[in-house]
Amino acid sequence: MKRISGKNLVLIGFMGTGKTEVGRLLADLLNRRFVDTDRRISEREGMSIPELFAARGEQYFRAAEKEVVAELASQKGLVVSTGGGVVLDGGNVEHLRLSGFVVWLDADVDTLSLRLQGDKTRPLLQSDGLAELYKRREALYREAAHVRVDTAGKAPFVVAREVVALL
Ligand code: S3P
Repeated sequence: MKRISGKNLVLIGFMGTGKTEVGRLLADLLNRRFVDTDRRISEREGMSIPELFAARGEQYFRAAEKEVVAELASQKGLVVSTGGGVVLDGGNVEHLRLSGFVVWLDADVDTLSLRLQGDKTRPLLQSDGLAELYKRREALYREAAHVRVDTAGKAPFVVAREVVALL
């Protein structure tokens, strides 16, 4: 557990990689508090993420996300799951890396397409093609993360166990 001692454990990765579910399991396994940045934002704004995108736009969402990330970076001992676009902002990446051990949950595009098929809760999937978006972001996840864990074909509890083994 050296890698997370005095730090947060942070999950990053594309939509559909299981960050929230794996994060919850990790918090249970490690006896830590769990925080999901999207959930925090939607509680603070009093609406769901799709509603927020529709009402205020992506830029507003990104600004709120940045505030939440900065807040969480000043705390320790959390398990934090982030939204898939958190790595688009260099300041976020710096905060997350300084305050936490950053784990990239990944999967190939075919697996992600299957998992996200018919998903109406993720605003960005409605406009951009998933493969394009993934391609644009892959390098950002790689740079932001301390380690990568492949989630394809694995149940969330298997992924969580693999993450624990890396700590
Ligand atoms: C986003 C991913 C979503 C949410 C928002 C934007 C993105 O989170 O933050 O819809 O830019 O990839 P999940 O990765 O939890 O779906």
